[in-house]
Amino acid sequence: MVATITRFFTIEEGEPTMTLATRPRGTNDILPADAELWLELEEKIRRVCHAYGFGEIRTPIFEHTELFQRGIGDTTDIVEKEMYTFTDRGERSLTLRPEGTAPVVRAFLENKLGSGPLPVKLYYYGPMFRYERPQSGRYRQFTQFGFEILGSDDPLLDAESIALPLELYEACGLDGFEVEINSIGCPECRPAYRAALVDYFEPQRDKLCQSCQSRLDRNPLRLLDCKVKGCQPIIASAPTISEYLCADCTDHFSQVLSYLDVLEISYNVNPRLVRGFDYYTRTVFEVKYAALGAQDAIGAGGRYDGLVEECGGQPTPAVGFAVGVERLLLALKAQDKLGESKKSPLAYLIHFGGETKLEAARVAHYFRKRGIWVEMDYMDRSMRAQMKAANRLASRYVLIFGEEELAAGQVLVRNMGDGQQELKDLQQLDELITALGACEK
Ligand code: HAM
Repeated sequence: MVATITRFFTIEEGEPTMTLATRPRGTNDILPADAELWLELEEKIRRVCHAYGFGEIRTPIFEHTELFQRGIGDTTDIVEKEMYTFTDRGERSLTLRPEGTAPVVRAFLENKLGSGPLPVKLYYYGPMFRYERPQSGRYRQFTQFGFEILGSDDPLLDAESIALPLELYEACGLDGFEVEINSIGCPECRPAYRAALVDYFEPQRDKLCQSCQSRLDRNPLRLLDCKVKGCQPIIASAPTISEYLCADCTDHFSQVLSYLDVLEISYNVNPRLVRGFDYYTRTVFEVKYAALGAQDAIGAGGRYDGLVEECGGQPTPAVGFAVGVERLLLALKAQDKLGESKKSPLAYLIHFGGETKLEAARVAHYFRKRGIWVEMDYMDRSMRAQMKAANRLASRYVLIFGEEELAAGQVLVRNMGDGQQELKDLQQLDELITALGACEK
């Protein structure tokens, strides 16, 4: 296998040679320097969610398979081809969650969250699993930040479901993304559109790709989402949903667009936008960042007014969105908006073994108990090598625990910025901390 390192994620080409030191295809290791960037992003997510009044929900990584079969839909690509499904030792069929909406709806019902004030606003963050063909921006384990608003059909919430992720993208410094929006109608008006699609595509069946031919029988709306070149001219002339929307859906959609205008959010209405889940009703949307190439959706969502009922609850309208975190990081990287992690230790403690190491260990412990990052040598390295290590870490000070200084109860403090050196008293460590200008946590 050829693996190209792209700072964040590896792109795998060809079949991997399995060794014990090879991670499964389509997964990523996040190493410490990058983990800092993930943490910063998570911090921003929490801040944005807080401003919109969301509470966090954490659901299990796996659920009963039936939840996804019923929720996402039997004829969707995810359920047909992409789920990690297994039978546990108790003969139950379980599935690693491929997305977060169905699990949140399940938790909403199971925990009776609908009995309190509505709407209920929940957000989540964590790994999702889909058996897809890995490529840049498409992984088998990936991370979503998502949120769901349950209990209201207010079109303002559709607009806010777009506003919130845009706040996040902007807080990260990203620009140049585009919002696409459409209404795919409701169970009242969609059957007529479905019939119109079948009438249109059926006479041209032979010219469609194999997948489209099967979609035509099972889920004709999904045909509009086909990426195969040969199908494009046929799809381009297909009837659009806008002509078939019922009065309520038309009104809902025009209100959503009015709210987007009020919130000064630009969008393109894309009448061919359909989504790969059966639960959507009315508004669907996607945010694209073109520079990512084939996998350009950095987030997507929509309204799903029938899902709660489908899962056994009372009719409860709902809307939500999910951001692909890896793709957002790739987009930020493409714009050079990621920067390097700037963290460095306050001090590197240089010792010469024996008593000097004991004292350095005591002082390091004292600093660390106060939340201050200090480093020391564990490899019995020479002073020169320890200085090099301090430089590599961009440590602001080095504390040199020489035998003579130690005998006088002192340590030599060197400011790595200006090279100034000064002896400091080891009995007065709080004063030393103040002198080094570290703020305690
Ligand atoms: P989705 O479009 O399947 O929607 O996923 C949302 C986002 O997750 C995508 O736009 C993309 O950024 C990211 N994503 C999806 N698959 C992958 C993958 N294999 N590798 C990397 N990133 C990926 C949902 O999952 C819906 N549950 C969203 C939603 C929430 N609708 C209503 N509420």
